Amino acid sequence: MNSRQLFLHTTQRKPTSRPPVWIMRQAGRYLPEYRKLREQQGSFKALYRNPELAAEVLMQPLRRFPLDAAILFSDILVIPEALGVQVEFKTGGPVLEKRIESLADVQALDVSNVRKILSFTNQSLQASREQMGDQKALIGFSGAPYTLASYMVEGGTASRTSRLRRMLYEKPDVLKALLEKLTDSVIDYLLMQSENDIDALQLFDTWAGDLNVHTYIEFVFPYVEKIFTQLQKKNIALIYYVNGSAALLKNVAELSVDVIGIDWRMSMDKAIEFTGAKKVLQGNLDPLALFGSSASIREKVHDIHLSLQGHPYVMNLGHGILPETPIDSVEVFTKEVLALAK
Ligand code: CP3
Repeated sequence: MNSRQLFLHTTQRKPTSRPPVWIMRQAGRYLPEYRKLREQQGSFKALYRNPELAAEVLMQPLRRFPLDAAILFSDILVIPEALGVQVEFKTGGPVLEKRIESLADVQALDVSNVRKILSFTNQSLQASREQMGDQKALIGFSGAPYTLASYMVEGGTASRTSRLRRMLYEKPDVLKALLEKLTDSVIDYLLMQSENDIDALQLFDTWAGDLNVHTYIEFVFPYVEKIFTQLQKKNIALIYYVNGSAALLKNVAELSVDVIGIDWRMSMDKAIEFTGAKKVLQGNLDPLALFGSSASIREKVHDIHLSLQGHPYVMNLGHGILPETPIDSVEVFTKEVLALAK
C-alpha cells in the first residue's frame, strides 16, 4: 500500500499496517534549504505566491523524510488579503494593515473576488501534485472563520485574543457579521481547492481553544459546520484542528468532519472518550519533544501509538514544528512511525 492509500484508508477508518505521518508546518524555516530559498526570493510571500516555488518548498521535507502527505505551501492569512486587508510577515509575526472594529469595517470587506484573487492556489496545487507524483497524499487548507477573525480584529497575533473576546461580548453583531463573510469566503476558497487532485482539506482553528463551550457553540460551531457540510459531497477527507481543544472536544466531535486534530496537551486515550469510535484522530506529539533525545522521541511515538489502542489515527505533532527544531529529530520521529508497521 502506498502512502496515499495508507492516508486515505486511515481517514476512511479502514485497517492499515501503520498510521500515516505528516507534520504541521513541515515546510519552513527549520530547513536550511527553505531559509536559503526565502533569502534568495526576498520574502515568504514571494514563495507562496509563485506556484513553482511553492511546489519546490513543499517538496523540500519530502526529499528528506519518509512523510506520507504534504500540505499546500501557503498561509491562512491569504483570506484577509483577498478581502482587501494587507498582511505583512515580520519577524515578530504577521501584521495586518488595519483592525476590524465596526460594522462599517466589515461592510467594507469585498468577498466577491476570493476565487479570482486566490487562483494562484490552484496552480500551486497542480505544480505540487506534478512534483510529488501520485503516491502521496496532498492536503489543501484554510484558516477557520474564528481564527481568521482573530487576526483581523487583533491586527496580528495576540496571545490571549482579548480584543477579539471583548468584541464577542461587547459587539456580538459585528463579530457575527465578520464570521459570516469569512465563512462564505472560506467555502469559496476550499471548494476551489477541491477541484484539484487533492486528498484532504484541513481547517486550522488555532485560536478557538481560547473559548468556553458556550461561546464556542455560538461563535464557532455553526460557521465551521456550514463549511464542512458544503464540502462533504466532495469525497475529500476533512480535517479540523483546534489548538487547546480539551474543554471543547465533545462539541468538536459533533461536527461533520472525518479527522480531528488533537493538540499535545491531551492524551489520545482521553481524546477518544470524547470523540467516540467514528472520528479519526490526528496528532499529537508535543513539538518541543523534538528537542529531546532520540530515545525519548522514539518512546513518545510508541506511547501515542499504544494510547490509541488500535483506533485509526494520523501521526503528527500537536501543533506546528518550531523553526529551531533539530532536523535529526524529525528524521527519528518519521522513521519511528514506519517502524510501527505490523
Ligand atoms: O508546511 C506547512 O505547513 C506550510 C504551510 C503553512 C504555513 N502557515 C506557512 C508559513 C500553513 C499550513 C500555515 C498555517 C498557519 N499560518 C496557521 C495555522 C497553524 C498554526 O500554526 O496554528 C497560522 C496561525 C498562520 C499564521 C502565521 N503565518 C503566523 C502566526 C506566522 C508567523 C509565525 C511563524 O511561524 O513565522 C506565519 C508565517 C508563516 N507561515 C511562515 C511559514 C513557512 C514563516 C514565514 C517565514 O518567515 O519564512
